[in-house]
Amino acid sequence: MHYNILNPEVFLDHLSIESSNPKRIAQFYSKNMMMDTISISKNEWHCIGSNRLLIFQKGTNKKLSFAAFGCKSQKKLNKIKERVLLNNIEIKKFNSIYLKKGSFSVYDPDKNKIVFGVPLKRKFKKKGYHAPLQHLTLQSLDIKKFINFYNKKLGFVISDRVVDENREITTCFLRSNKQHHTIACFKAKNIGIDHHSYEVGEWNLIRDWCDHISRNGLTLFWGPGRHGPGNNLFVFFEDCDGNKIELSAELELIKNRKYIDWPHESRTLNLWGKSFLRI
Ligand SMILES: [Fe+2]
Repeated sequence: MHYNILNPEVFLDHLSIESSNPKRIAQFYSKNMMMDTISISKNEWHCIGSNRLLIFQKGTNKKLSFAAFGCKSQKKLNKIKERVLLNNIEIKKFNSIYLKKGSFSVYDPDKNKIVFGVPLKRKFKKKGYHAPLQHLTLQSLDIKKFINFYNKKLGFVISDRVVDENREITTCFLRSNKQHHTIACFKAKNIGIDHHSYEVGEWNLIRDWCDHISRNGLTLFWGPGRHGPGNNLFVFFEDCDGNKIELSAELELIKNRKYIDWPHESRTLNLWGKSFLRI
């Protein structure tokens, strides 16, 4: 049987993003995403909330420092590690105050650092609305390499693809558990983060989150709408560095189905209205 990573225990656990002003961006997430802030040093700030964790390190705005996937058991982590080594992917030990010993990192073809580890229990005080960190979407010049790495080598499963009139793949959504995607990639003119997303679960919570950020003086730049692939309801707004934040609800849970090829057109990205194609 073809190996895959699929397991309810494998999920996007946390992200580390560079910023020219880590303190300012940490304060942004504390206020708007209802998280506690921890100052590690003047160059590193952490934001922690219920099922969401972000690390901001001094550097270039919007640059991904790393994305950490969590495995609830050491056994599953070992299986992933075995698979990575079988595929001759170089691994490095990864030390983190948030992950148990034995965590490791790999680099994808665009030099994005991807970490796998078993999360440690975390303490936080601030209780905000429900919104677990759920997926990361990247941009790449080469989707084929992205798919080869995440699907063929790491074992993420393709949920849906977007294909243009020349049969070229322009977007790919991959999952590590039942949720439609935990990682995705748009073909684009640049390499890096496209957006990161929180799955709030229910439509009414999108309303509550929007009321909350509105009270803080923020506005949405896209949505509300409904994506074709994943069938989720969404809104998007930007943080103070221009990182794109998605709040999502009703994301498709996949039991067992083959991937669907969606046409590369505006409606695929938003069944309800306007959208913006990356290329
Ligand atoms: Fe998304």
